[in-house]
Amino acid sequence: MQSSSFPKRYLHTTLAFTKKIPHNLKGKTTSDQNWLVRQLNDPYVKASRVHNYRCRSAFKLLEIVDKYRLLKPGDNVIDCGAAPGAWSQIAVQRVNSTGANAELPRGTVIGIDLLNIAPLDGAHFLSSHDITDPFTHARLQDLLPSAKADVILSDMAPNASGCKDMDKEKLITMCLTLIDLSEKILKPGGSLVCKYWDGFLAHTLQNRLSAVFGCVRSLKPKASRKESAEKYFLGQMYKRIK
Ligand SMILES: C[S@@+](CC[C@H](N)C(=O)[O-])C[C@H]1O[C@@H](n2cnc3c(N)ncnc32)[C@H](O)[C@@H]1O
Repeated sequence: MQSSSFPKRYLHTTLAFTKKIPHNLKGKTTSDQNWLVRQLNDPYVKASRVHNYRCRSAFKLLEIVDKYRLLKPGDNVIDCGAAPGAWSQIAVQRVNSTGANAELPRGTVIGIDLLNIAPLDGAHFLSSHDITDPFTHARLQDLLPSAKADVILSDMAPNASGCKDMDKEKLITMCLTLIDLSEKILKPGGSLVCKYWDGFLAHTLQNRLSAVFGCVRSLKPKASRKESAEKYFLGQMYKRIK
């Protein structure tokens, strides 16, 4: 099993270097140039390569699951907005869905995305599926052992429209559909992690989550860029039983 936490020693030595500037910026737009410089200097991007994670967001989930002890061997997990698959990689390791450790219970990981997701040992992917669609909910019920999940993860994000408020509202609406999904598949006592963009509607989502989860926290993992409005709600102790 790979190391579970962010490699602090690696981060320390990486940050000791001065900022790197890529050589191939000619012809690129300013925003593309900024993105390239940021990628080149981001310790989480480098650490993702070292750990063979599909993207840096793996470290956001690692921080959450380590701190709040989520994803145990044997858990059944739904990963919403799973492409390219870094969160699913973490889930596969933690719930032992490949059966790598024969002495521990074997869990299940099902990832869903509108996009194609490259295959991953230990995960079942539903590419070209919309998690807000009741048809997808029915597929999940069919695929899950006993039709129930222990944990629902969501790092979903809509495509940027150019209007931040509209995008924030759209993401909150998408997260609200996860409450409907929870009613169908989440075990009592189960957990939900969902990304949102902070804004006035975040309170609406928080209130709706608080009505069905015993404990709801707002989290900003260290790997989430400070300048981003991105945050996560963690709902634990699911109490609504349909
Ligand atoms: C930030 S990426 C997720 C990264 C992923 N957690 C990982 O670690 O690889 C957000 C994803 O949400 C997906 N998405 C957006 N709306 C969706 C929807 N309605 N149903 C399923 N996936 C959706 C996007 O296609 C995109 O791939």
